[in-house]
Amino acid sequence: MNVQQMYERLKGIVGNVVPDGEIRYKAEIAVEINRLKKERNAVILGHNYMEPVLYHSVSDYVGDSLELSRKAAATDKDVIVFCGVKFMAETAKILNPSKTVLLPSDAGCSLAASITAADVRALKERFPGVPVVTYVNTYADVKAESDICCTSGNAVAVVNSLGSQTVIFLPDEFLAGNVARETGKHIIYPTLSLPASKSVDLDYQMIGWKGRCEVHEKYTVEDIRAIREQYPDVLILAHPECSPDVVAASDYSGSTMAMIKYVENTGAPQYLLLTECSMGDNIAAAHPEKNMLRLCSVRCPHMNQITMENTLASLRENIIEIHVPEEIRVKAARAVERMIAIG
Ligand code: 13P
Ligand code: SF4
Repeated sequence: MNVQQMYERLKGIVGNVVPDGEIRYKAEIAVEINRLKKERNAVILGHNYMEPVLYHSVSDYVGDSLELSRKAAATDKDVIVFCGVKFMAETAKILNPSKTVLLPSDAGCSLAASITAADVRALKERFPGVPVVTYVNTYADVKAESDICCTSGNAVAVVNSLGSQTVIFLPDEFLAGNVARETGKHIIYPTLSLPASKSVDLDYQMIGWKGRCEVHEKYTVEDIRAIREQYPDVLILAHPECSPDVVAASDYSGSTMAMIKYVENTGAPQYLLLTECSMGDNIAAAHPEKNMLRLCSVRCPHMNQITMENTLASLRENIIEIHVPEEIRVKAARAVERMIAIG
């Protein structure tokens, strides 16, 4: 596809959400990325939070963390370019270690930064024998300390699969709170609520951690109340990294992919997504017939680091190549593969 054809294709898809000059400029980069992708036998995985042009032009697969992990595990390409954040690229390397995995920019995540492998070891010492579930939004050494991983798309199924009365669930305070509510478990946060002694005897069933997503923690029940007052027919969807109060006040909660599917399969007069803003733009581009309330100003600063320009540079110069030490990778792979086996 030449630049003019790419421009026209993109204009047809994202013309309602991206200015014309930006489409023209990015069409040129997209053509070069696609050429290099072929030359290097690469695949580009684009998270649902990628900006609309990147999402709709060069991504071979788009999806949530779970879906993209599956694609990373299954690909036979030589190079995986992960347009997402570091924990996602690490997961790709964990699952498919013989591939070159590239992350276009050193994009972090407030949840992944909230906990260390030493923190997990300390919790295991304090609660011996209790299975550890870690959210995929963690780094490889933290995954390596856990029994099983989960994503927002399968957290409840993962917890239920353990058949254990008590579970350590790390590190997202709000996702844990939402899972506790769905599974009927009582949750405690030992970092704040327990004395340092090991001999605590509380009626806990879920042991959480105080990590938060710096994007989803911003939404409040007050925001929802104000929106419903102005748009009484609006259908509100919240990511499970939002607080349990916000999730309870919304109409639907699910992973990024589950939210997209929900919008595609319902006929509400208006929709509001309580999640990273680009996703609303991506849905609005793909489904101009859906009335997406684009009141959003919350972009993830980490996802936002990934651009068309640095995706091109990544393919040209092999930046940033992801490495995971083998002894950590093997242990982390066990936890991630156990999760993938559940579905
Ligand atoms: P999903 O797994 O739902 O795509 O979420 C990933 C993420 O980082 C949400 O903030
Ligand atoms: Fe991390 Fe939140 Fe950004 Fe997702 S949106 S990558 S959880 S900081």
